[in-house]
Amino acid sequence: MTGAKITAIGTYVPAKRLTNADLEQMVDTNNEWIVGRTGIRERRISRQDEYTSDLCVAAVQDLMKRYGKSVEDVDMVLVATSTPDFSFPSVASLIQDRLNIQQTAGAMDLSAACAGFVYALHTAHSYVASGMHRKVLVIGADTISKITDYTDRSTCILFGDGAGAVLVESDKQSTGFLGYQLTSDGSGAHHVYRTGLAHKVNNIELIDTQMLVQNGREVFRWAVRTVPLGVQQLLEKAELGLEQVDWFIPHSANMRMIEPICERMNYPMEQVLHSLVNFGNTSAATIPLALDLGIREGKVKNGQKILMYGFGAGLTQAGQLVELNLDERVGEPTLL
Ligand code: COA
Repeated sequence: MTGAKITAIGTYVPAKRLTNADLEQMVDTNNEWIVGRTGIRERRISRQDEYTSDLCVAAVQDLMKRYGKSVEDVDMVLVATSTPDFSFPSVASLIQDRLNIQQTAGAMDLSAACAGFVYALHTAHSYVASGMHRKVLVIGADTISKITDYTDRSTCILFGDGAGAVLVESDKQSTGFLGYQLTSDGSGAHHVYRTGLAHKVNNIELIDTQMLVQNGREVFRWAVRTVPLGVQQLLEKAELGLEQVDWFIPHSANMRMIEPICERMNYPMEQVLHSLVNFGNTSAATIPLALDLGIREGKVKNGQKILMYGFGAGLTQAGQLVELNLDERVGEPTLL
């Protein structure tokens, strides 16, 4: 296998803030309940004319500026999203043109909900490790606000919009990707969904609002029960121990989910990175946003081992353990 590593990262969130105080004006809720049950204080919401492709382009521009990178020679574009501008064409195709990436590069979207970024990262690693690709652009981006029912108080308090991009490049000397874990349990597909052409799954009639619908309690229980087991399996395959993991980045769904997950794993909360306090659940973007916040704050450093673990609709899970080895930064990050 050819060595591969993440060489650069960039992120973007829309300017408009939706605070808990704003939500108090929209539904029967209050700041204490939201902070107490989720840890979230505010989220960013895309403009009416701002779509997932726009967020992706802005995240990649941040990456290029910070690391002095060009993307013209990228040979594969992967966008993980559940909220593409269109069912087709893909967001990846739209941004290929806007970023002047060569027409001979592959471009496709990947659907694995909140586990999407880590699925895409694993896919990029596989492409590069096989020797068939050299430079893959991986983006996790969502505009869940566009499919959020702002009359459903148990859902609208959770979600926000954002994007995170990384470059995965071949490097013979590098062993940046240390282990992975991918799972999917379609028997729970009806617990979180948005209807499309079909309105029934697992013999269950779905609520057809074209909005995100969830059974929050079921998703909560499933994640707390299964994520620690997935992490354990990943580490066993990688022949590494949890004590060797410098930072754990679970999907930022809800702080009250992350805490029992870490408790069951016996992992210290001080070594957890998340992006939910100011951005909420940004679906495929939570993990790159959390990683980037850690980098921007100077906590995360090259040489450290980082365990990213996404979970969400599907029900999907994806974990990736990496040793970080970013290129040297040459420019300031765009303000978030
Ligand atoms: N403000 C005030 N009260 C609220 C509320 C809100 N925003 N949302 C729900 N409630 C009420 C409920 O109506 C219920 O009232 P009742 O007891 O009178 O019926 C009570 O709070 C408890 O509801 P419950 O659903 O048990 O709350 P919870 O502690 O499970 O929290 C979620 C709800 C949605 C925040 C939580 O289940 C969750 O985060 N689940 C995971 C969802 C998720 O991650 N989805 C994305 C997939 S990655």
